[in-house]
Amino acid sequence: MSARIPQAFIDELITRSDIVELIGSYVPLKQKGKEYAACCPFHDEKTPSFTVSSEKQFYHCFGCGAHGTALGFLMEYEHLEFVEAVETLAQNSGLEVPRDETSSAIKADYHDLFALLEKANVYYQKMLREHPNAINYLKTRGVSGEVAAKFGLGFAPDGFDKLLNQFDNTTTEEQLIKAGLIKKNEKGYIYDRFRNRVVFPIKDRRGRVIGFGGRVLGDEIPKYLNSPETPVFHKSDALYGLYEARKVKATTQSLLVVEGYMDVVALAQHGIENVVATLGTATTRQHIQQLYRCTQEIIFCFDGDRAGRDAAWRAAQQTVPLFKDGVEAKFLFLPQGEDPDSLIRARGKEIFLQYKEEGVPLSTFIFEKLSEDIDVRTPAGKARLAQIAKPLLEKFPNGVFKRLIFDELEKKVGAPIHYSVMTTHQNKLNQSRPSSNKVTPVRVAIAALLNNPSLATDINSVALLVTSSIPGVKLLAKIITIWNQEPELSIAALLERFRDQPEGQQIQKLLAWNPPELENPRQTFNDAMEWIYRKSNSERIQELIDKESTNGLNEDERQEFKNLLHQNMS
Ligand code: UTP
Ligand code: MN
Repeated sequence: MSARIPQAFIDELITRSDIVELIGSYVPLKQKGKEYAACCPFHDEKTPSFTVSSEKQFYHCFGCGAHGTALGFLMEYEHLEFVEAVETLAQNSGLEVPRDETSSAIKADYHDLFALLEKANVYYQKMLREHPNAINYLKTRGVSGEVAAKFGLGFAPDGFDKLLNQFDNTTTEEQLIKAGLIKKNEKGYIYDRFRNRVVFPIKDRRGRVIGFGGRVLGDEIPKYLNSPETPVFHKSDALYGLYEARKVKATTQSLLVVEGYMDVVALAQHGIENVVATLGTATTRQHIQQLYRCTQEIIFCFDGDRAGRDAAWRAAQQTVPLFKDGVEAKFLFLPQGEDPDSLIRARGKEIFLQYKEEGVPLSTFIFEKLSEDIDVRTPAGKARLAQIAKPLLEKFPNGVFKRLIFDELEKKVGAPIHYSVMTTHQNKLNQSRPSSNKVTPVRVAIAALLNNPSLATDINSVALLVTSSIPGVKLLAKIITIWNQEPELSIAALLERFRDQPEGQQIQKLLAWNPPELENPRQTFNDAMEWIYRKSNSERIQELIDKESTNGLNEDERQEFKNLLHQNMS
């Protein structure tokens, strides 16, 4: 749903902001020559290996490899989404974020959906006040008026068009269907989706209603109904209660993830407010990402049965790639047949908190689970454990925790285990190992150029580079073209152009790379370019010769061939 922000604005934003000032407001920086240094905020260290370059508007840690622009820093440090980082940086610089036209049309559309959902929400809450049977139902489940109001609980009355009738003809059927409030059957009749149910409004992070869950008052089936997928409601990343939980301080410390709406409400009723629920779906990567943006520790709370353990294992696997140093995840299993709601109502807050204390840390849970069907006392069992553990543990982001968990695996199997610190998951930052760059002419040319953008003006034509099949040359051509067209563009702004493209990773790596060849950048660049031109030239000649002998050359290609031969001689 990220609204498109014009590239020109990102350029301007990067140009106007100062990464030294930004990072300096979070981490004490010391000037060291042309750059600034600090102890790295992304890993534990005693001597500073984190540097910030004012010239490049770029930060880089030689210890853990973390690096990026001002926007990248905000995303990493403040756990923000790209658009949120842009908004934060813009606010710091006193700029307003513009959106392009297509996105404002989409936004207007969302705006309408939110308005309809909010209107339904207000109506359902009013209906709850007018239906004693629904109030009684909540009372029998121990929910007070105060807690019902805190979550905005409501009631959808029986009947087929009660909600429908709340809207006049300025609202179309299509809009109501799109919002998930109204359904159409095969005969073309339209009717209220939620009927005779207590409703739980589901909100986004900003408190806007994005959908509803509805529960029957008795034991009709289905017990719960949820809004369908809509442009604003996606089950796989919605979390019930997150908006409310973020208001309490305890949430920054730890956040409980439970399975049901009623579990969230019942725990809040007993004063435990740092709780969210997934909506009858498995825990996804998106869920976990959002949770770690507002808490240090996720406590997953599951049934003690087989299904609960399987769900916990799925959640654990989703957590691994997001488990950066500084966070924790715990797994809590309740006695068979109990859920947080039933447990806390029957046995009280203290007992529930005791259970909570018994949550198993992620590392313990992983080893327990992996060793389940293995006899780890035998050498074969140990080898088997190493074999199945390694691919999973390699998915942890690089850092102290990863080293420790591999130490633990080594202890368990009693033999050294080699593992790769380059992980396969997409945790995009913190991944680079600049030292692994081999010195090749193409790498050297790009690195020299990144350090001295003005070198781009030495190149008159990129025509030959654009068709080259030498790895990296197309990227080189792109960078040269951009800087020839926009010589004022800063390196950080250039980097932002490649955000989310694999090429952006290469550029960041090369920017952080400092081989001795770069001491004389112009000479190095020219030598490298000469090599690249010669090689591209002879490759292209070969290509055209091959073509001549199969399909024959057209007039343009014939001319190109002559030119290439001519250049090749000179
Ligand atoms: P449970 O079946 O565990 O119900 O569903 P519960 O939360 O204990 O419900 P109560 O206590 O009887 O009210 C857990 C979650 O799974 C989803 C809902 O999100 C529910 O909160 N669910 C369950 C559905 O979507 N549909 C259903 O029919 C049942
Ligand atoms: Mn329940």
